[in-house]
Amino acid sequence: MARKLIVPDGIPNDPGGQPDSRRGKALELGFFGWNIRGGMTMSKATLRNNDRERDYWKWSNSRNLIEQAEYIGYDYQVPFARWLGSGGDIDFNGASLDFLTTAAATAPITENMGVFSTCHITFRFHPLHIAKIGASIDHISNGRWGLNIVTGYQAQEMAAFGMEHIDHDVAYDMAEEFTVLLKHLWTEPEPFDFEGKYYQSYGAVVKPGPTRSPRPILMNAGMSDRGVLFGARNVDWLFTVGLTVPELRAKVDRAHSLAESFGRSIRAATMCWVVAEATDELAAEKFAELQSEIDREALLGYARQLGGMEMYKDRDVDALSQDPYAGLGKEFYEGYSHGFMSPQLVGSPETIAEKLRELNQEGGAESILTCFLDPQKGLHAMQDDIFPILEKMGLRG
Ligand SMILES: Cc1cc2nc3c(=O)[nH]c(=O)nc-3n(C[C@H](O)[C@H](O)[C@H](O)COP(=O)(O)O)c2cc1C
Repeated sequence: MARKLIVPDGIPNDPGGQPDSRRGKALELGFFGWNIRGGMTMSKATLRNNDRERDYWKWSNSRNLIEQAEYIGYDYQVPFARWLGSGGDIDFNGASLDFLTTAAATAPITENMGVFSTCHITFRFHPLHIAKIGASIDHISNGRWGLNIVTGYQAQEMAAFGMEHIDHDVAYDMAEEFTVLLKHLWTEPEPFDFEGKYYQSYGAVVKPGPTRSPRPILMNAGMSDRGVLFGARNVDWLFTVGLTVPELRAKVDRAHSLAESFGRSIRAATMCWVVAEATDELAAEKFAELQSEIDREALLGYARQLGGMEMYKDRDVDALSQDPYAGLGKEFYEGYSHGFMSPQLVGSPETIAEKLRELNQEGGAESILTCFLDPQKGLHAMQDDIFPILEKMGLRG
């Protein structure tokens, strides 16, 4: 019998439907950036507390963090996937555990939390690589694996793979085709053929298929219009970031209505950077210390790498490097160095719980990724002080 031939036609397509991932909590929480040097904190102050604030990614530390996150009830973990760091005295993000090993390693030491991988699809992976490896991790984790699909915005990382820079929107066209083939690889029971513009596959079949039905959860965090369009058409969880709660709400509402217009649904999510101390005053002191020691070279390195992102492509980092804010403006300089422009949750447990409530109830984020200055201290604060408040608010019951 002739094999089934699939030719992508640009129409959103979810063979078998979309997976349901709701856990019955108003607010789901993810543990982010635990696998990488410095996480989302670009301050030389972290060097004084290296094991706690910078090199917690080493497996001897990070496996304890993952076990702790699971124990206290975190819903999922997401690594931050980078191939090159940004330099500076802190060697920002210059060492990390990779996106697949982290999921495979965290699967057997957890039982409940979702374990995600982040794949830069443009870096010459074929969907069959990711479909096969992902189905295996889904099998090992008993259906808890998921994939964050990113296109890769760094010319430097593309060069490291021996590639010319790929145009931003073309990368999203590739991502659409990649995702369509991935979904078919996870749901077609028999070998099939696929003929796309960017990807072809003849006679592939993935066995065992994924454990979660109909397939693993897919997420995306594209910030540009094209990125959000990709997310609404293809994935199940869409991450977006707003500096204010109304800005987040507007983006979340837009993502939902876009997905609906394609006959799909997405779950909206966001991320934040957390510095938890006993009181607001202590947290403000810690924050001031971090800000007074921003690693300018690391930040400039990162800003150069962001040149591939739509919204930062016109910034001339080098021409303005004498400027106190390196030509990036105060908001960017301070916002990127601590939390990559996501909300900075700095304060007492009460303050942090209230900000999480706002992002969830008013901002519309069903799910929030938290990245800590000091993940060990942060997880303890979550367990002892913040979760009890969130429970009283009825958000984690
Ligand atoms: C929650 C979250 C997680 C992300 N994780 C990664 C990551 O691990 N690796 C990466 O290269 N980009 C990551 N990004 C960046 C985005 O996926 C995306 O590439 C970037 O925002 C540019 O999107 P755009 O090209 O649509 O503007 C993340 C963004 C967010 C908000």
